[in-house]
Amino acid sequence: MFVVPDVNDLRTRIARWKATGERVALVPTMGNLHDGHMSLVRVARANADRVVVSVFVNPMQFAPGEDYESYPRTEQDDRDRLVDEGVDALFLPATEEIYPGGTGSVTYVEVPGLSEILCGSFRDGHFRGVATIVTKLFNLVGPDVAVFGEKDYQQLLVIRRLAHDLCFPVEVISAPTHREPDGLAMSSRNRYLDPHERAAAPALFQALRQTAAALAIGVGEFEQLASQGAAMLESAGMRPDYFEIRDAETLGDPLPGRDCVVMAAAWLGRARLIDNLRVTVPG
Ligand code: PAF
Repeated sequence: MFVVPDVNDLRTRIARWKATGERVALVPTMGNLHDGHMSLVRVARANADRVVVSVFVNPMQFAPGEDYESYPRTEQDDRDRLVDEGVDALFLPATEEIYPGGTGSVTYVEVPGLSEILCGSFRDGHFRGVATIVTKLFNLVGPDVAVFGEKDYQQLLVIRRLAHDLCFPVEVISAPTHREPDGLAMSSRNRYLDPHERAAAPALFQALRQTAAALAIGVGEFEQLASQGAAMLESAGMRPDYFEIRDAETLGDPLPGRDCVVMAAAWLGRARLIDNLRVTVPG
């Protein structure tokens, strides 16, 4: 596996692969890789000849006061896991390589509409930071395919929209959420949970599952279901930012007969957990 900290080096290697007609997949990450990330790498591998993984803790997507400084950085473990998985290149840039002029006053990418709602209304500038770094990575790597997890469902839609609106010739593929045996969605931030909180955490998935089951059999009182979901989180000791039922494509109001998605974000101790479940509402 090539470990490439430099953008010119990265471009040269990828150009060589592309010159021989090889398809290149990109898996963007912020490191601290777990089995969920590895499942994204396997989807990438199945869809391309070469797999590039980026590990970059992107300062621009952390709102003021969030965990940028303390976000887990586990570079050697990440490298070992990616070698075991047969990844071709690890792009591991320094912050100055990506933001040579700092993050304060840079050109940025904003996906209006999708970015201000749900997580966006609690994390100021978050999706601007995500859209900007993903655009930079698409420009640097020029991937044929890019793989993102469905756990970050709003992020996935933001990225699909930016790829479409900015005419990137990239196929955005999503991979299912990887869960612990008790249902908790895998996330680097799960390591913030103490044992007591970890035991309570699966309540998030249980609340989503219960709500999705009610929707699937035709219970149409969306607002009532959402407030019941939020109450389930509260009784498990969480502080919900939101518990919402939304249209799966637009994140607007849910409509009978269309796919919808039950989405939630909640604080449990120091960890902000997010998760979602898609469901078809009978027409
Ligand atoms: O999902 C993440 O880990 C990040 O938001 C991403 C897509 C790598 C951008 O920094």
